Amino acid sequence: MNKKNLTSKSKIIYWILRFKRVDINTSTHQQVSLYDNIQEATNYIRNRTDFQATFGIILGTGLGSLVDDMKIDAEIPYRDIPHFPISTVQSHQGKLVFGTLGGRSVVAMAGRFHYYEGYSMKQVTFPVRVMKALGIRHLLISNASGSTNAAIAAGDIVFVRDHINLQAENPLRGENDERLGPRFPDMLRTYNEKLNQSAMDIAAKEGIQAHVGVYVGLQGPNLETPAEYEYLHRIGGDIVGMSTVPEVLVARHAGLPVFVISVVSNQCYPIENIQETTIEDVLEVVQKASPKMVLIVKELIQSL
Ligand code: HPA
Repeated sequence: MNKKNLTSKSKIIYWILRFKRVDINTSTHQQVSLYDNIQEATNYIRNRTDFQATFGIILGTGLGSLVDDMKIDAEIPYRDIPHFPISTVQSHQGKLVFGTLGGRSVVAMAGRFHYYEGYSMKQVTFPVRVMKALGIRHLLISNASGSTNAAIAAGDIVFVRDHINLQAENPLRGENDERLGPRFPDMLRTYNEKLNQSAMDIAAKEGIQAHVGVYVGLQGPNLETPAEYEYLHRIGGDIVGMSTVPEVLVARHAGLPVFVISVVSNQCYPIENIQETTIEDVLEVVQKASPKMVLIVKELIQSL
């Protein structure tokens, strides 16, 4: 509600409501749907660029340097886009980058949003909805993870073949808008086996140590206790992280095929070998592995 435009009578009502702690901005007649917000953000972007991207890429920890390899057509800071959250993580920038990578048209999210930063799941996944509305056909997501599989070491790359969702909230909770997707999305074949096989072939050709595995999504921001790493191993997790699952759920809901590439920053299994891990340790391992991820993603989208 814009206070400046109020008459003196309505100003009194405004302050009574404020005093009574009535949530003025979310009262029913004021409510704007998620669908409308997506349209507003998409229209804004379309007014700034008519670049048509086939691939949406979420540049998580480790893939940020991918934009250096892009021939950039347009850049739009998140803060300019209606309803976009703004990234608070130091190691992430915050803009949409449109351009070509290896001759394919992409829109890259330089900077992503995490639930642990305090955003709602709807906010975390809003950019995926917007990229879908902009017409992307594939969503590629990168992240950093801890390994709960003794065969997967720090610095290795993992292509996600499935996930286990242990996050507290679900972005699809609440009234479902059929224009965006079905009420009960099926999760079979969410991750494309053929794409993962192509990625494994590229990794083998390039001499990169890579695996296919199951990602467990947790809320964070703390890392896990040894007992928790043991548990994640036992329930079938190969790697664990604090992102990706919400975006995958929304992409699935929207009928968007996904590919997820993870760089392992710390090995947490067997638990006797766990080392204390700081964000600096994570970033150091990820920076080193970053060229491998960029190479794989570039070759993969060229092959599609
Ligand atoms: N746990 C959760 N998230 C992570 C980890 C971890 O060990 N390493 C990198 N992201």
